[in-house]
Amino acid sequence: MSKTINVLFLAAEADPFVKVGGLGDVAGSLPRALRALSTDDLKLDVRLVLPYHPVVKAENLKSLGIFSIPRGDSEVEVEAFETTLDGMPVYLINGDPIRANGSVYSADASRDAEKYTFFSLAALELPNRVNWTPDVLHANDWHTAVSLYGNLTKRWEAVARHVAGVVTLHNLPYMGPDVSGILESYGVKLAQTDLPEWARSMPLPLGLWASDAIVAVSPGYANEVLTPEFGCGLNDFLQIRKETLSGILNGIDTDSFNPADDKAIAVNYDVNSLQRRAENKEMLQNKLGFVSNPSVPLLAVVSRMDVQKGVDLAFAALKSMKKADFQAVILGTGDPKLEEAARALQTAFPEKIKAELRFDSGLARQIYAGADMLLMPSRYEPCGLSQMIAMRYGCVPVVRAVGGLDDTVAHGETGFVFEKEHHMSLVSAIKAGVKVMSDDKEQWQKIQRTGMSRDFSWKNSAQEYLDLYLSLVK
Ligand code: GLC
Repeated sequence: MSKTINVLFLAAEADPFVKVGGLGDVAGSLPRALRALSTDDLKLDVRLVLPYHPVVKAENLKSLGIFSIPRGDSEVEVEAFETTLDGMPVYLINGDPIRANGSVYSADASRDAEKYTFFSLAALELPNRVNWTPDVLHANDWHTAVSLYGNLTKRWEAVARHVAGVVTLHNLPYMGPDVSGILESYGVKLAQTDLPEWARSMPLPLGLWASDAIVAVSPGYANEVLTPEFGCGLNDFLQIRKETLSGILNGIDTDSFNPADDKAIAVNYDVNSLQRRAENKEMLQNKLGFVSNPSVPLLAVVSRMDVQKGVDLAFAALKSMKKADFQAVILGTGDPKLEEAARALQTAFPEKIKAELRFDSGLARQIYAGADMLLMPSRYEPCGLSQMIAMRYGCVPVVRAVGGLDDTVAHGETGFVFEKEHHMSLVSAIKAGVKVMSDDKEQWQKIQRTGMSRDFSWKNSAQEYLDLYLSLVK
């Protein structure tokens, strides 16, 4: 007899409906990759639920009507919609706390607190409305983690089947604001937990506490969160839960990120026609206003402008290399101070450094296809997607040995890896790369080809998630 596992996958963002960062990529691709693993014997009915942020782009919405959840002495209305993505049911939840705030994430934590608590609790009610019972609730980051807590302490009383809770950690330091008052107003009591005192009313810790399984987005990050350096004060708690903690590397959408038929780049190529890549470098140099010269190393930073990503270290490295022959492009938006620093670099070295401070996925692809090296000197990196995309396009990553970067880039084989959180360590790694590039072309191309041939698709990782689900629902 065939078996079905029903999974409700909750996230704050998912491509192509709404995307702010890497979480959006993962929540857009993993649920579909999981469904694709269905066989005649085992059906994986994964369904996605998102807040209907005002910025969400969705077509062919079907209304599922209005229901309400209790708050204080009254009730809050929940408006639910359904659409599909490649055959996967996708639910959008709306209500005053979601409408109240235009952006996906706001600077005002208290507004996000109400919005995501409401969303998480409303999403728990949703399956009843569509006559479908999840076996697994899969939450992502703090925004949806409260669902696991609500599930454990209050909801599902009427449901006979056990609902397992999985939480994926994309970014541990963001735990969400104190939601004790909000939880109380929705009738969810704070339980006695073995969390550290300061964490007992924060969404992510509560979700971790209530979960059956915790997944970090790379094996390296799963080890790191157990240490004081990366554990953000939860390392002792996570040590206690070690048995339920694992690391599953994110995949990338290898159909979309494919240099052989990427429409955004000038010339398509693959591992067997790598020489054609040179034309993309030339186009990129022209577009950026650089001298077009195939032998000048073209370095790239494609990143959120954020201290997490160590872009300040990259800037310091470029500055200290001012006498060397290179070109560099910086693409991304974020922290105004870092944006300003990038602009200042361009002003100081206009022939060498170009700052493109905007979100531009087309230019990002042209950079992956044309630049020689991608710099990722992250302070911490739960997984990181750009280094995988870069390798797929033959752009050699120069990364710090943390989290998913260390798991995906092999020093001297597919990229260059350095240890110390210091810009001079990055400079040494860049110089090592430049040396191979200029002195040993054959070896350089070997590094490019090896990276291009690595399998970064979701296939293996989705299977690991499936195995995890199976272990929880058996
Ligand atoms: C967060 C992490 C990043 C990870 C992404 C998707 O943005 O910072 O390392 O790749 O989530 O999991």
